[in-house]
Amino acid sequence: MSMIALTVNARAVQVSAEPRTSLADFVRDKLDLTRGRILGCEHGVCGACTVLLDGLPARSCITYAVACEGADVTTIEGLDEDEVTSELSAPPSPASTRCSAAIAHRECWSRRRDLGAAPAKRR
Ligand code: FES
Repeated sequence: MSMIALTVNARAVQVSAEPRTSLADFVRDKLDLTRGRILGCEHGVCGACTVLLDGLPARSCITYAVACEGADVTTIEGLDEDEVTSELSAPPSPASTRCSAAIAHRECWSRRRDLGAAPAKRR
């Protein structure tokens, strides 16, 4: 076990975890943040597990928790006061469907745009 100190949703935490524990499992199992922590492919492809890591989108399923020592992690629970997230989290109209993965994806791109990051090029 390794002791990991980081900030999650503006709260300093210090928790032990196995070296191969993913950040996704860490926030779910050690911090009980389960609302937005959704796993899809678990290979870094689908983006369902996306969190903000030091302000930038990161796939928590392929990020080791121990690699986040000292980092600032924001999960969907940490965006409750965010205007865009609140709007996207509103109950869906009968004509639309929404999921937390879509909310996280849009939020991450919104943050990237705010930071002036160029969109990723499609291959
Ligand atoms: S679960 Fe698909 S990218 Fe993490």
